[in-house]
Formats: sequence, structure tokens, C-alpha cells
Amino acid sequence: METSRFTLPFLLIALSFLLSLSAQMTGNFKCGEPGDSPSTCRSLVGYSSKNATTLGNIQTLFAVKKLRSILEANNLPLSTTRAQRVIPNQVVRIPIPCSCSNGTGVSNRVPVYTVKKDDTLFFIASEIFGALVLYPKISEMNAIPDANEINVGQKLWIPLPCSCDKLDGRDVVHYAHVVKSGSSLGEIAAQFGTDNTTLARLNGISGDAQLLADNPLDVPLRACSSSVRNDSLDANMLLPNSSYAITANNCIRCSCAASNNWTLSCEASQLKPSNWPTCPTSRCEGAESLFIGNTTSTSCGPLSCAYAGYSNQTIFTTLSPDSCPDSGGPGPPGNYASTFSSSFSFVMVLIQFALLCLCLL
Ligand SMILES: *[C@@H]1O[C@H](CO)[C@@H](O)[C@H](O)[C@H]1NC(C)=O
Ligand SMILES: *[C@@H]1O[C@H](CO)[C@@H](O)[C@H](O)[C@H]1NC(C)=O
Ligand SMILES: *[C@@H]1O[C@H](CO)[C@@H](O)[C@H](O)[C@H]1NC(C)=O
Ligand SMILES: *[C@@H]1O[C@H](CO)[C@@H](O)[C@H](O)[C@H]1NC(C)=O
Ligand SMILES: *[C@@H]1O[C@H](CO)[C@@H](O)[C@H](O)[C@H]1NC(C)=O
Ligand SMILES: *[C@@H]1O[C@H](CO)[C@@H](O)[C@H](O)[C@H]1NC(C)=O
Ligand SMILES: *[C@@H]1O[C@H](CO)[C@@H](O)[C@H](O)[C@H]1NC(C)=O
Ligand SMILES: *[C@@H]1O[C@H](CO)[C@@H](O)[C@H](O)[C@H]1NC(C)=O
Repeated sequence: METSRFTLPFLLIALSFLLSLSAQMTGNFKCGEPGDSPSTCRSLVGYSSKNATTLGNIQTLFAVKKLRSILEANNLPLSTTRAQRVIPNQVVRIPIPCSCSNGTGVSNRVPVYTVKKDDTLFFIASEIFGALVLYPKISEMNAIPDANEINVGQKLWIPLPCSCDKLDGRDVVHYAHVVKSGSSLGEIAAQFGTDNTTLARLNGISGDAQLLADNPLDVPLRACSSSVRNDSLDANMLLPNSSYAITANNCIRCSCAASNNWTLSCEASQLKPSNWPTCPTSRCEGAESLFIGNTTSTSCGPLSCAYAGYSNQTIFTTLSPDSCPDSGGPGPPGNYASTFSSSFSFVMVLIQFALLCLCLL
């Protein structure tokens, strides 16, 4: 009798505590399931500083290897330099390598911050890293015995929240958004093109009452659909609305715009290639008058030449639609390799074209 009188209220309290221990309160983003083998991907965080800064300072703080990847994520021109000013509270999207294990995603061993005079873990988390991370998480992941004792010069891994999970079977780019006070799930959802129930479900909260200001919220950003092959070196390129990427050893520029029906749009970049002496042709094999990005009208509707990825030799192209329903027979099979146009392989190209023409006859 005595015990049950105490046990029931205790259980209720414990249960409500467990239920309220949402992902938002711990600052963790769900990624995979506990026990899954580790996975990695690219994720985004939305950083804003209370003080004016520069893109270069942000690049250094987050240990981003190439400034270009910040420019791409923010749709900034390639000519933008490290000196570019960033005004207080301006949000900059930063790509981070995400590593998921045991059901949680965190930035893969980066960034590393060196403790300065007068820093506290709380200041580092909430001010320097703009509340993208909660300070107990820094303490936990760096195995700091006493959170009040950190030393000048000590190096700390800042475990930023991230995820690689698909959303309802679809690839998305996870974005860590720091919640502003007074905002609601509905407003945040509208801003990022999702809905309040998805945000609530993903973050393990039931509604606005559990939305915490100055905490990171996992926002799934829809990515443009692409024709990139799964064996391409950039097979996992996922671009959200209003971003671009330079790929295929600098030869191709792809961009994503919601206004383009969420379809990745690519074309020759006109940049100097890396790893290749010259850029392979972006001519579509199977439709010699078309280059990547071109669309032409045919008897069976518009025919487009899309980028389908690259290998260390070639750039792949694909025609869409890949068959002409009116022509009776099956069209050309989806993907072709457009062949590397350096002089030594040019003869091979000619032979392949000749064979192809013979086959089509
Ligand atoms: C994995 O997560 C579970 C709960 O989600 C926890 O009990 C366990 O200690 C974790 N294991 C490791 C190795 O972190
Ligand atoms: C922002 O500037 C103020 C005033 O100079 C300074 O006290 C504070 O530490 C700065 N914050 C960060 C995150 O550097
Ligand atoms: C989502 O918004 C609708 C309409 O405003 C509201 O009825 C519903 O309770 C909200 N759901 C959540 C999880 O916030
Ligand atoms: C790659 O795509 C091909 C067909 O498009 C498919 O048969 C194959 O299973 C895919 N491979 C992987 C690893 O997804
Ligand atoms: C896509 O980005 C553009 C430019 O930033 C913006 O105007 C538009 O509202 C965004 N659309 C969606 C659905 O996110
Ligand atoms: C938009 O894309 C979808 C497939 O992703 C396609 O079914 C639809 O026809 C497209 N709409 C327009 C207007 O191009
Ligand atoms: C086809 O694409 C090439 C290269 O991107 C471009 O120069 C050309 O103007 C395009 N042609 C048409 C008809 O769109
Ligand atoms: C290029 O591809 C070939 C075979 O496809 C492979 O043997 C070689 O290692 C690759 N080179 C590089 C630098 O990836």
C-alpha cells in the first residue's frame, strides 16, 4: 500500500520528464537509428553573429576548406572574396560534413575552436557559435570533467547538429536553424517551404509551446531532382532552393531554383578545369546539336540535354525524355558518356560515333 502511493506519482513525473526530453531540448538531431552503421553526408547550419564579421572569419571559424562552398550555399557570386562583410544577425548558410552514429548526427570532428582568455563554454556555444550548439554538448563530446574549467589554448571540437536522414523516402538537405524568440513552427515552416507538422515530428516536439528560442531546430530543405547517375563522382550532390555547385572538375555549374520546378539546371561553367587539361565537351551524345542545358523542340515535344555526372575520364549526359513515344521503338537508353575530348582520345570518339550511327541505322 505504502509503496504504490509513492510509485504512481513518481512514475508519472518520470514519464512526463522523459516525454519532455525532446530532441530540441538536448540540441541533438536524429540521424538513423541507434545501432545503425555510421553514415556521412553534407549538411547545413545557419550561422549569424551578433557582431559584424567577414565571410573569411566565418570560413575560418567553421574550418570550411573552400570559400567557394560557402558562396555556393548562399548563392553568392564566385567573385566574392573573404573580405566580404557580414552584418550583425545576417544569416549565412555553412556546409558542414555530417557524421551519424547511434541515432544522432554531429559535424564530423570539425570545427575545432581554440579557447581564448575569458571564454566560457556557455559563451563559446551561445555567442561565438551563435547558439547552434548547447554548451553541455561541447562538454560531453570533449569529455571535459568540469564545464567550468577550460584552459586558454585548449582545443575543443564543436559538435554542430546535423542529419543525413531522408524525409518520407526523399533526399533532403538538413539545415540547423536557430529559433528566434517569438517565432512559431508555422512561420519557420513557411520560411523554409515545409510544414509545421513535419518540423514538429522531426524535432520530437508537439507544438509551439515546446519550441525553444536560441536553440537549433532541424529544418529539412527540399533538394532539386537531378539526372546525376549513382556511379558519378558527385552522385550525392543535393542542392536546396537558391544554391549552386561547381562540379565535374570545375567544368559544370549546376543550380537549383524552386521556380524551375525543383529540377537541377546545369551548363558548362566556362571555368578553368582542375585535374583535366581541358574540359570534355558538354555535347549530348545521341543529339549532337545539343549541349548540356539546351532544350530543343522535336516532333514528340521538347527534348533536353541534362548533366548526368562525371567520372575521372568523362562527363555524362542524358536526354530527357529518353525516348520518343511516337517513334514506336525504344529511344536511346538514358545515359551516355560524352567522351573526353583530349587529342589522344579523339579518334576513339569518332569510332564510337560511327558505330553509334551504324547501330541507329
Ligand atoms: C547509443 O544510444 C543509446 C540510447 O539512444 C544509449 O543508451 C547508448 O549508450 C548509446 N551508445 C553509445 C556507444 O553511445
Ligand atoms: C562582440 O563584440 C563585443 C564588443 O566588442 C564583445 O564584447 C563580444 O565578445 C563580441 N562577441 C563575439 C562573439 O565575438
Ligand atoms: C499546424 O498548424 C495548424 C494550423 O495553424 C494547427 O492547427 C496545428 O495544430 C499545427 N500543428 C503543430 C504540430 O503545430
Ligand atoms: C544505380 O542505378 C542503377 C540503375 O539506374 C541500379 O540498377 C543500381 O542498383 C544503382 N546502384 C546503387 C548502388 O544504388
Ligand atoms: C526559393 O528561393 C528564392 C530566392 O531566395 C525565394 O524567393 C523563394 O521564396 C524560395 N522558394 C521556396 C519554395 O523556398
Ligand atoms: C515538374 O516536375 C514534375 C516531376 O518532377 C513533372 O511531373 C511535372 O510535369 C513538371 N511540371 C512542369 C510544369 O514542368
Ligand atoms: C546550348 O548551350 C550552349 C552551351 O551552354 C550555349 O552556348 C548555346 O547558346 C545553347 N543553345 C541554345 C539553342 O540554347
Ligand atoms: C581513374 O579511373 C581509372 C579507371 O577508371 C582508375 O584506375 C584510376 O585510379 C582513376 N584515377 C583517379 C585519379 O581517380
